[in-house]
Amino acid sequence: MANGKQAVHFSAHESFRENSFKHVWSGDLDHVFADIASYYDSANNVASLGLFGWFRDTFLSTIELQPGYTVLDVCAGTNATGIALLKRQPDLKIIAIDRNKEMQNVGRQRAERRGLHIESVIDDVHKLPFPDNHFNLVTIQYASRHLRLLEVFSEIRRVLKPGGFFYHADMLRPRNRLIGKLQYGYLGMCLTFTAKIFGSGTQALDCREYFLDVLSNFYSAPELTELLQHLEFSNVTHKTLLGGLVGFHKAQKI
Ligand SMILES: C[S@@+](CC[C@H](N)C(=O)[O-])C[C@H]1O[C@@H](n2cnc3c(N)ncnc32)[C@H](O)[C@@H]1O
Repeated sequence: MANGKQAVHFSAHESFRENSFKHVWSGDLDHVFADIASYYDSANNVASLGLFGWFRDTFLSTIELQPGYTVLDVCAGTNATGIALLKRQPDLKIIAIDRNKEMQNVGRQRAERRGLHIESVIDDVHKLPFPDNHFNLVTIQYASRHLRLLEVFSEIRRVLKPGGFFYHADMLRPRNRLIGKLQYGYLGMCLTFTAKIFGSGTQALDCREYFLDVLSNFYSAPELTELLQHLEFSNVTHKTLLGGLVGFHKAQKI
């Protein structure tokens, strides 16, 4: 797609996502994460029958580290990414940012139990409170669906040092409709099952529809690659699992 057309296409799609979901993004979603923080990690594993661990390990294996790197984990939640990276490379300086303090409290306790330190910033990620050209590496896992991507990805590019890398993981919209249908059926079942066994509150239960809708209006892996290229990231590559259901992108700021 030519650059001008791409700009129109992405800004139209992002406006559509924002108009469709802003009521959840600016309200209920934060209550849902506060509600589920204490069992978020176990629920993911139970509901995905262990697949989530495989998704995480595959994503983490794509991340290349150097000693002493300064890393920003965006929408860090319970610090799953930061903890795994520090286990691999203990001299990293990791900063986690997430607007949900309950998720970050669980994350801080998880890190402390392992003798690890991750600095925590509680804030919205649409404006990152960090200087330009600051981080060697930025990660984001399982959160992009809930964000205005043109803003967040531009901010991520701004805070990356030249030569730095952005690693992105999320569930994506598979290009094959049948795989999409299976995905939504499976996800709907997982959300109901998890809500039942972990006794989720009403807000989490009410958001089940949202979790399916937001995914069906998200990007496929090749579309996300184009979006990153459009925002002037270089050397963008991606890898997918399960027919494009989950995707891992790597992009560089030159
Ligand atoms: C599904 S969790 C993922 C957490 C973690 N990255 C992981 O892989 O387990 C999504 C996280 O994004 C955070 N989040 C969503 N919208 C946000 C926003 N606008 N600003 C900051 N954090 C946000 C939520 O609070 C939640 O902790």
